[in-house]
Amino acid sequence: MSEHRISMTVNGQQHRGLVEGRLMLSDWLREAAGYTGVHVGCEQGVCGACTIIVDGRAVRACLMLAVQADGCSLTTVEGLAAADGTLHPVQQALKDCHGLQCGFCTPGIAMTLAALRADDAQPDEAAMTQAMSGHLCRCTGYQGIRRAIRQLAAEDGTP
Ligand code: FES
Ligand code: FES
Repeated sequence: MSEHRISMTVNGQQHRGLVEGRLMLSDWLREAAGYTGVHVGCEQGVCGACTIIVDGRAVRACLMLAVQADGCSLTTVEGLAAADGTLHPVQQALKDCHGLQCGFCTPGIAMTLAALRADDAQPDEAAMTQAMSGHLCRCTGYQGIRRAIRQLAAEDGTP
């Protein structure tokens, strides 16, 4: 068993730890750091529930080792809303359009859409819909998610 010291920023907070080399980032975030908004479904990169943002890119935390995130800046769904509680536009659209049912898939979907729209990017409806191809909703609530995407595109004035 090999152990490694890691240090990373999660939602603006510095975290340090000692982890086994084989520990997945999703497990470390949930169990050691307390970010239980990182949902773990398939544990093999298929469902998208565990998606977080690592250095600006949407990443499946169940496919990344905790040691690989050493030195990185991470955002989980807990860090998506503004400090005053104002929802991120993606969260607001999902709320407005009933884009969630049980909510298990929702953090991953929100993080993928947020990563796509970071740095003032304005992806169109087709690009956001395409990005959803890597997400499974076991409640089959896809129509609400599509309505949320259409709302985001309309707000941005993109086709
Ligand atoms: S739990 Fe990571 S993709 Fe399903
Ligand atoms: S809302 Fe239940 S899994 Fe998507």
